[in-house]
Amino acid sequence: MEKYIIKGGNPLVGEVEIGGAKNAALAILAASAMTDETVSIDNMPDVRDTNVLLQAMESIGVIVDRVGRHAVKINASQVRNHTIENEYIKKIRASYYLIGALLGKYRHAQVVLPGGCDIGLRPIDQHIKGFTALGANVTIEHGIINAYADKLIGSHIYLDVVSVGATINIMMAAVMADGQTIIENAAKEPHVVDLANFLNSMGANVKGAGTDVIRIKGVEKLHGSEYTIIPDQIEAGTFMVAAAATHGDVTVKNVIPKHLESISAKLVEMGCQIQESDDAVRVVASKRLTATHVKTLPYPGFPTDMQPQITVALGLASGISIVTESIFENRFRYVDSMIRMGANIKVEGSSAIIDGVEKYSGAEISAPDLRAGAALVIAGLIAEGFTSVDDIKYIERGYEDFHIKLGALGAQIERVDAEREAQKFRLKFA
Ligand code: UD1
Repeated sequence: MEKYIIKGGNPLVGEVEIGGAKNAALAILAASAMTDETVSIDNMPDVRDTNVLLQAMESIGVIVDRVGRHAVKINASQVRNHTIENEYIKKIRASYYLIGALLGKYRHAQVVLPGGCDIGLRPIDQHIKGFTALGANVTIEHGIINAYADKLIGSHIYLDVVSVGATINIMMAAVMADGQTIIENAAKEPHVVDLANFLNSMGANVKGAGTDVIRIKGVEKLHGSEYTIIPDQIEAGTFMVAAAATHGDVTVKNVIPKHLESISAKLVEMGCQIQESDDAVRVVASKRLTATHVKTLPYPGFPTDMQPQITVALGLASGISIVTESIFENRFRYVDSMIRMGANIKVEGSSAIIDGVEKYSGAEISAPDLRAGAALVIAGLIAEGFTSVDDIKYIERGYEDFHIKLGALGAQIERVDAEREAQKFRLKFA
């Protein structure tokens, strides 16, 4: 089984290029199926989640032409049916974006219930509430969601919780509905805005994305478009925290610094220097980090997808930090591995109380989910000795060439799929 093997101790130094946003790509790829004309998408990350989604789209007749590693042309004029049964699709959360996209275009969608990272209960009641308000009939039977509508009619929808997925799904279902839809208490994440921009580039009329009220005037149809996906906020944040944790000096390039402000602000509180330019952020950490408190919140708050990474960094900071997770209830599963590496962290309810230690020591650990997996790799980079991180399939769902990018910054890390290769690595860096 593939794993990363890491010899800790090297500071990360240099420049790293950030790819397109996975979570924006998933929404935009699904939305590409909403026109019969060809759509060209650029800056697409080459990660497992986007590849699985594309396979699922191909399974219903969408033509996917990969014109490059990060560019794809999509044509959905030959869609044969609206049922997504593809085995793989259960593994990714964003499979449910095909409900909004297919319902919006064809008034019918049948999709296997989504999976995704096991980070807590992930209900979809707000998605269903939105579809129903637009006039769809939604049932769940045998693990399959079936949504159909004779007609979709614009509606006023107030979300009970700020949900990225529900905001995106309702937006897609509403763009070709009759009349106006208003989504209140909408999510404001950069990928919500990116999807709105993409839909508008296809002829939709979506206003207010990025605020908590989104107004959508239904249009008759959407047309082809050429679109470049925004940079990945979380990939960028992960490298920023890795730079800080390793006491490095890294310039994270091809980013939108505004999207990273909540992360930059925390790193400054922790004693790092941050320099922003138009499309890059440099993180310099010359001394031991200091403790701070973090609470995850919907955008523009501190992202839940950065919670494990910052916790790993705070585990070595001087003083006591409290990290509170307010979005998902099961997002501290990696803490057990941290404790095995020598961290002093106690989880109480939705908070982790972290008493910073002087050092971590390498251990054999497993990635419990995507972001926690990346965080444990960072832990390996700052631990004494060797760390092996198993189950990297989770990490590869959302990070392209993670070990290669880290290696280029000076990390001693390799992806191995046999114990013999792991041994070789240990000998090389002994
Ligand atoms: C998306 C991101 C994920 C990120 C999360 C929060 C994608 C593919 N995934 O996930 O990486 O961690 O946003 O920024 O973009 N909720 C309900 N009912 C619903 C929907 C959600 O109660 O119908 C709750 C969830 O349990 C959670 C909160 O709302 O507590 C936020 O979830 P949501 O924003 O929907 O997350 P996802 O879209 O699943």
